[in-house]
Amino acid sequence: MGGEHMNTREMHQSNRAAWNEAAAHYAETTAERIEFLRSGGVNFEAPELPYLQNLGDWCARAIHLQCAGGTDTLSLWNLGVKEVVGVDISDDMIAIARTKSDALNAPALWFCNDILDTSHTLDGTADLVYTGRGALCWLHDMDGWAGVIARLLKPGGRLYLYDGHPLSWIWDMEAAELKLDPVYGDYFQTTVQTNQGWGPTYIGDLGKPKEELARKYETQKTFGQILNPLLQAGLRLEKMEEHPEEYWEAFPNLPKDILSRLPNTFSLLMRKD
Ligand SMILES: C[S@@+](CC[C@H](N)C(=O)[O-])C[C@H]1O[C@@H](n2cnc3c(N)ncnc32)[C@H](O)[C@@H]1O
Repeated sequence: MGGEHMNTREMHQSNRAAWNEAAAHYAETTAERIEFLRSGGVNFEAPELPYLQNLGDWCARAIHLQCAGGTDTLSLWNLGVKEVVGVDISDDMIAIARTKSDALNAPALWFCNDILDTSHTLDGTADLVYTGRGALCWLHDMDGWAGVIARLLKPGGRLYLYDGHPLSWIWDMEAAELKLDPVYGDYFQTTVQTNQGWGPTYIGDLGKPKEELARKYETQKTFGQILNPLLQAGLRLEKMEEHPEEYWEAFPNLPKDILSRLPNTFSLLMRKD
């Protein structure tokens, strides 16, 4: 079933309800995450680290779009950013993030809103906009998204994006061999996919039948559908890299030697001149 009958805002709000439900799973690890961050922990994946070097030298403010429970946002602080800002549509995720920064007495600001409505008080204030790891699929207005990133950055500011590779969508996630997914297996399809419930290797069971959970609306994107809106918004491409590393266990049954031959994630570094 597609989501063509709903407009962008309605799909984003339904996703908000779904993420508020999923936040219950994130909340289970709040205390553990606070201790991890207190001890200087940094929750980034290996391919991200080269892009997040020497932050103390150049990054007074980082804005993390779709920050979820704030662990990654606060990891930027542990890497030397002077002030971090997290933006997320889920009230419950933002509450979790705030609990962490309060416990750590961290210089953090949290904004609960649809990315498309990000506060203009933040315009032109970011040395770094960071986003990714399961962010782009939830968005249904890429031009609007790219425009927000462009307005948040200071002149000279950088966007660093690390997310699932567009090609990684097309493989069957349950299969023990490489084959096209029956629903997502067309790289160029633009259908809005809608479903309820969460995969076992991510959020898992939330204690309710999945028919009672909020409906999620997602779209896979081609690489051009991600990059072109950012170029159009005036950002300059500095580096694009494809990585075999995953950021979550999307293909639990696929042999690792097959998985490691595929592009599973990508990095995009762009700058506002
Ligand atoms: C997979 S998480 C982001 C990844 C994060 N690094 C993590 O590991 O938890 C996706 C986040 O996007 C947020 N989100 C989805 N649609 C949004 C929108 N339109 N505006 C702002 N946040 C949104 C959700 O609430 C959720 O917290």
